[in-house]
Amino acid sequence: MSVPTVAVIGAGGHGLWHRRRIAARVESGRVRLAGLCDLAPLTSEPDAPIPEGTPVFTDHRELLAETRPDIVVVCTPPHTHLPIAADAVAAGADLLLEKPPVTSLDEHRRLTALLDESGRACQVNFQALGSPALPLLRAAIGDGDLGEVRSITVTGSWRRPDEYYRRSDWAGKSTMDGRRSLDGALANPFAHAVMQALAVAGAGIPSGIEVERFRARDIEVDDTACLRLTFHDGPAILVAVTLCGEAAKIEGDLTVAGSAGKALFEYPTDRLRLPGGETETVPGRVDLLDDLIAHREQGSPLLAPLSATEPFTAVIEAVAAAPVTQIPEGHLHREGPYLVVDGVNSVIEAAGARTALFSELPAPWAIR
Ligand SMILES: NC(=O)c1ccc[n+]([C@@H]2O[C@H](COP(=O)([O-])OP(=O)(O)OC[C@H]3O[C@@H](n4cnc5c(N)ncnc54)[C@H](O)[C@@H]3O)[C@@H](O)[C@H]2O)c1
Repeated sequence: MSVPTVAVIGAGGHGLWHRRRIAARVESGRVRLAGLCDLAPLTSEPDAPIPEGTPVFTDHRELLAETRPDIVVVCTPPHTHLPIAADAVAAGADLLLEKPPVTSLDEHRRLTALLDESGRACQVNFQALGSPALPLLRAAIGDGDLGEVRSITVTGSWRRPDEYYRRSDWAGKSTMDGRRSLDGALANPFAHAVMQALAVAGAGIPSGIEVERFRARDIEVDDTACLRLTFHDGPAILVAVTLCGEAAKIEGDLTVAGSAGKALFEYPTDRLRLPGGETETVPGRVDLLDDLIAHREQGSPLLAPLSATEPFTAVIEAVAAAPVTQIPEGHLHREGPYLVVDGVNSVIEAAGARTALFSELPAPWAIR
């Protein structure tokens, strides 16, 4: 069987993460590097080298035409995903498309149609969908170990320094070049929290989406936010997160509460506790590029196909449409490069415990 060739478009920024993984797979003979593309100059890194002779481009269309890669990693800012993905599919490539895959349901339908017409595959890099803890949790729910599931909640409290909002031109922006750019706590770093909760629920597009977006910083998007999703059939999902957290990090704690017990799943680390059991790290995270290669070679189902992300895109579309409320300065304080919302961790924990929105809690800064 021939070794697939892989190209990365958007090879600077987070593209470096992909280049490292590709470099390891080039080393083991699993893939060949077809070429790299970025608008900005690229540097060779010890664990992500640009070997002599590697074709490097600033225009992705030239990369596609000249290297004809089997697989294209699209790791450019979200508002550029659809046109680049469409060009890659037209050039005959399968996609490993960064999250958020597209910025609206209309874009989702357009990309789906292109994939259907071409027969190409699209894996979305929601890497936590490769967690081996996810099928264990879903099986426990399916087997009735938790009784009737009443809610799925995810809480997260992270902190980002001031420079985070200077990392790129779309940082903190709601639109770029007239298109939705989808930065913000829910759409970007905690996109995995939203997707993971939807995957645990195994639900489709929610019938109800309530969103509350707040900003401590002078940005166009949320850095502190919650959302509650309801479904015609199935438990509610509550996500409460901040990037202006207190020093004690809340990693990304997913709790499934049922009539017969609770399960806890720390989705970034694959730590899982099922009713009556101990907390354990479940080994064996599947890399989504490896999974895409296996799909190409053996026809195995993808772990994160574009189709599975439609509910996520519906949610993110509603998030982008919701207003962002400034948190008054009197409820903020500084810890070095971090801006912290006073008492935010306990509000986030209470939101999770009660499946409540911030405005339904005693959270003095959450008055809208
Ligand atoms: N899966 C994850 O955990 C994870 C983590 C970080 C970022 N991401 C996603 O990766 C994508 C990129 O994010 P980032 O933080 O690296 O952004 P970034 O702006 O830091 O980097 C994007 C890179 O793409 C390049 N670029 C932009 N437009 C281009 C074009 N038309 N052709 C070629 N190159 C182009 C830029 O020059 C830049 O080097 C986003 O979709 C983001 O949400 C995912």
